[in-house]
Amino acid sequence: MRIVLLGPPGAGKGTQAKVLAQKLQVPHISTGDILRQNVAQQTALGKEAKDYMDKGLLVPDELVTQMLDKRLQQLDVKHGFILDGYPRNLAQAKVLDVMLKEKKMDIDMVVYLDASAQVIIQRLSGRLVCKSCGANFHATNMPPKVALVCDTCKGKLYQRSDDNEETIKNRLSVYRKEVKDLSLYYQKIHKLEHVSADEDPPIVLEKVISLAKQRNDTVKVR
Ligand code: AP5
Repeated sequence: MRIVLLGPPGAGKGTQAKVLAQKLQVPHISTGDILRQNVAQQTALGKEAKDYMDKGLLVPDELVTQMLDKRLQQLDVKHGFILDGYPRNLAQAKVLDVMLKEKKMDIDMVVYLDASAQVIIQRLSGRLVCKSCGANFHATNMPPKVALVCDTCKGKLYQRSDDNEETIKNRLSVYRKEVKDLSLYYQKIHKLEHVSADEDPPIVLEKVISLAKQRNDTVKVR
């Protein structure tokens, strides 16, 4: 199953994608995570992307697209994937279609995780991420068992550098500018499903899985 998750920063795309990927036994591909790995490793791509990310702007399409195309060439995507963070605009959506067509693949479903502005700010200001395995926590909504220590791998938790007030404002404004065209595009080709992401993670997950089953009754959920 090939699922794309859309939604504002903080809607819970990463949180849902990680669990969904385990449940459906497919890889989770997050362009944000791949970019952050490149920044941490100080690769040429990371050095170029860092400034855009710190400002809350989109990294230029060609850089992200090349990076994703490389990821989609890996064998593990053969039986599907959960794509989180791409596409971010109409141009990326069109390029994604071409990339997948070349690989004889198609998207089964695009899930728009919708969250209210109040929820987004609360989630992003308290988000904690594991430095080692990338697991998501929240200081109050989903606190780790031991402060600043990952429940899964015992790695150190940190606050993302783009989770500050100024950058969050920019990320939201970029998102709002692009999302209308993007959702209209997927609505027209009957791929789009809406899910309210204001509820607790297991409830959101259940709704997404139920939609996946409606789209593909052969889908296996672990
Ligand atoms: P990216 O990493 O994709 O960030 P984003 O889209 O801003 O989304 P977030 O990761 O902030 O939020 P999320 O929806 O995944 O929420 P999460 O699950 O973490 O991109 C970062 C940057 O990279 C961009 O600004 C851009 O510069 C660049 N970039 C990436 N892709 C690009 C592209 N295609 N083109 C160009 N540039 C690109 O949840 C947030 C918090 O809420 C967590 O603490 C979590 O524990 C908590 N939480 C989640 N769900 C719930 C719930 N249901 N109830 C309570 N708490 C919850």
